[in-house]
Amino acid sequence: MQSLPRQKHPDLLVGLEAPDDAGVFRLSPELALIQTVDFFTPIVNDPYAFGAIAAANALSDIYAMGGRPLTALSIACFPLKTMPIDDFKAILRGGMDKLHEAGALLLGGHSVEDPELKFGLAVTGVIHPDKILTKGGAQVGDLLILTKPLGTGIIATALKGRLAAPEAEAAMIEVMSGLNRAAAESLEGLKVHAATDITGFGLLGHGLEMAQAGQVEFTIYASRTPALPWARDYADMGLVPAGSHANRNFCAQHLAIDPRVGALDVDLLSDAQTSGGLLIAIAPDNAPELMGRLKARDVRGAAIIGEVTGAGVGRIRVVP
Ligand code: CO
Ligand code: CO
Repeated sequence: MQSLPRQKHPDLLVGLEAPDDAGVFRLSPELALIQTVDFFTPIVNDPYAFGAIAAANALSDIYAMGGRPLTALSIACFPLKTMPIDDFKAILRGGMDKLHEAGALLLGGHSVEDPELKFGLAVTGVIHPDKILTKGGAQVGDLLILTKPLGTGIIATALKGRLAAPEAEAAMIEVMSGLNRAAAESLEGLKVHAATDITGFGLLGHGLEMAQAGQVEFTIYASRTPALPWARDYADMGLVPAGSHANRNFCAQHLAIDPRVGALDVDLLSDAQTSGGLLIAIAPDNAPELMGRLKARDVRGAAIIGEVTGAGVGRIRVVP
């Protein structure tokens, strides 16, 4: 993307120059359009659950900008020769049901035949131009709140190896198919300075994006960062996706891990998530109100996991 020429337009609010969770284009002084697209190969065996997870994941980038989704188009690559047609129907129905739960509509889509199944959505949402939440803007003293537990990447790896317990698979599906809607709506009127959603680069990778965009130092408390219980056991068995090590190496230069932090904790902090939670930087005096709202909306797993501890450099300290 960096090799492309720069685009300039007075109503282009978030574009390729400072890549964020989604692009934003102003339609009027009160209204801006948010657009994002995401699709991927299955991470669970159940086709309906896969469709729901793919939709929740695509919608998440709208919520990460503070927006409200309106419409979506599906993108699908279907192995028509080897998969039963009922499975495709179940994937589409899972995606559509999740869109409806979000208050959005499926307007159409496009599918091609492909030996490898892939599914996702292009989602359009809206936001007031003054209320856009980007990755930049975190301020020294802010508290960091994560709204979903980590560990879905590790459990997905166990599932691929046929080593995941049915309860672990069910817990992973519940986390990944859960919308970030309640979390995003809970931010209304609060002093939220920055937000993003945790996906393929893990908490450390996406946290670092936020820290660098705001030129601040994040301190993350490993012991306060929630994770699905099975993820710790499976990581202990060595079921850590290859992406985790790549994530950590990518961040290494800007990462200071306290030697008292255990290797398992580091595995969880760098675990690639699908449809993970929001990471929110909020003024400390507003954090109790947000935690109260998240609890009232049943956003399970939400926790204060760190704080913004310094200015001038984009980096992360991990402490016990
Ligand atoms: Co995102
Ligand atoms: Co995305």
